[in-house]
Amino acid sequence: MCHWLKNCSSSFIQRKKRNKMKSLSSTQLRQIRTKFRLSKQHVELPEVSLIADKSSTALFNVAGMQPLIPYLLGKQHPKGTRLFDIQKCIRTVDIAEVGDASHLTFFEMMGNWSLGDYFKKEAVQRSWEFLTQWLEIDPRKLAITVFAGDETAPRDEETANYRKEVWLPPEKVSYLPEENNRWSPGPVGPCGPDTEIYYRVGASEFPPAESNVQNDEDNRLEIWNNVFMEYYRDENGQLTKLSKQNVDTGMGFERMCCVLQQKASVYDTDLFEKTLQVIVQTLQLSLPFSPAQQRRVRIIADHARTAFMLINDGLVPSNVGAGYVLRMIIRRMVYNVMLLHPLQLEAYADVLHELLASFQGLRTFDEKEIIRVFTDEVKLFQKTLQTGKKMLEEMLNELAQTWTSAGILQGENVFKLYDTYGFPVELTKEIAQERGVNIDETGFQQALEQAKETSRQATKEMFKKGIDWSKYLEGIPQTEFIGYTTLTSDEPRLLKEIDLEDQKVLIFDKTPFYPEMGGQLGDNGEITLSNGEVKKVHTVQKFAGVILHFISA
Ligand code: SER
Repeated sequence: MCHWLKNCSSSFIQRKKRNKMKSLSSTQLRQIRTKFRLSKQHVELPEVSLIADKSSTALFNVAGMQPLIPYLLGKQHPKGTRLFDIQKCIRTVDIAEVGDASHLTFFEMMGNWSLGDYFKKEAVQRSWEFLTQWLEIDPRKLAITVFAGDETAPRDEETANYRKEVWLPPEKVSYLPEENNRWSPGPVGPCGPDTEIYYRVGASEFPPAESNVQNDEDNRLEIWNNVFMEYYRDENGQLTKLSKQNVDTGMGFERMCCVLQQKASVYDTDLFEKTLQVIVQTLQLSLPFSPAQQRRVRIIADHARTAFMLINDGLVPSNVGAGYVLRMIIRRMVYNVMLLHPLQLEAYADVLHELLASFQGLRTFDEKEIIRVFTDEVKLFQKTLQTGKKMLEEMLNELAQTWTSAGILQGENVFKLYDTYGFPVELTKEIAQERGVNIDETGFQQALEQAKETSRQATKEMFKKGIDWSKYLEGIPQTEFIGYTTLTSDEPRLLKEIDLEDQKVLIFDKTPFYPEMGGQLGDNGEITLSNGEVKKVHTVQKFAGVILHFISA
């Protein structure tokens, strides 16, 4: 016992009750964060487009650091060594999670960088200062992760030790492996171990003392990532040290709003408040939502916002590349609308107008152009769906008259709708369920596999029959293979379409599809035709340097 306490047997220490965390609007968060970074001598960078430039292998701007890659690799930045911004990003890898509490396809990233300037110590201190002093988040709600180390880089004890300076007890630190705590923008490029900060969500005022990211994962929300970018990873996965030690920081703007506004999800923040109201009103929904409805409403809100932002940056829906992703996002939004409250095409312009207005303030939108591009795509999709829906209705009517198989829509029928009309399986399921019919999902998968196999065999047969391809390929140049750098192709030119019995062969000027060669199977994937029909590419062959994509006719 210390001397002072020993002599003060009746002493009593009482700390003042901590102030409640600030509740900040999204606009206030932007302001306070700018003020903080400027106070740390960072220079603000302008925002760049969501559409990645042609030199990048990515389709979109996926991280705040993407435009800074050359500078993280060593180039001098004209604005100095301490930078910050708030950058719009698109990530579609987690699209299946959209609708839960925290996932979005479009989001904003509050990023700041040290390009060979300060490193781990200051990065940790400043993160803590901002979170606990400027935003007044209670430190007892925070926990961190650091890199556990492997044969390529050491365990990050240095960062873990800095936690002492911010009074974070050791049990709040989790050491995690590469897949959690090494960050890179892609397989090749700058990378480094990271330390992530997690907030404890949930009702209890304070988490149990032992709660950390490993033992309380479900209640932990990542709000901050400090990447210590000091390595370059090459094509073979080899790491080499960069000339400078950089810090790449990212803080998800929507998640931070969610924490500061004490909401259960990013969709409950002020960023989506008006949007959800618009969806409820225009689709005439009643509250409270069932969990399934809630997810659909959130998907509509997220996908509409993403599509607006992409079209505003000049993208149009197409069959390839970034345009294809936009097409899929719009269509996914539309079929979620359909499942809640089907709308006639004419009604879409009004709904879109209202939705767009709910995001005013986020950016300056070219409303006329956005609504035109969006409604054109809705029109195309509705046309495709109409035919598919008619067919589904017929199938369901037929089923209702049969005794034996009532209640289950056969997998091959689900497949037919999917294969011929690009009818989403999820939509078939919903419509069928409304009529008390389930779909045979295993049968669908089997039909899918079988169709692939049959087509492959048919194509092999054709090759065996010795088709004289040269007569079809006169004047067709060799195909440019772009599959080493990308999995999609940006606006390829269709050079030829060949009809063969029940198959078609498409030839483009360039393709990411690798052909069947030397006993190795070719790639498979999808091609969306200009009429909106989605065709599976089941076989890819090569003849005299020309790549042939086989689809069913
Ligand atoms: N680039 C890192 C990320 O996106 C930190 O900004 O998480």
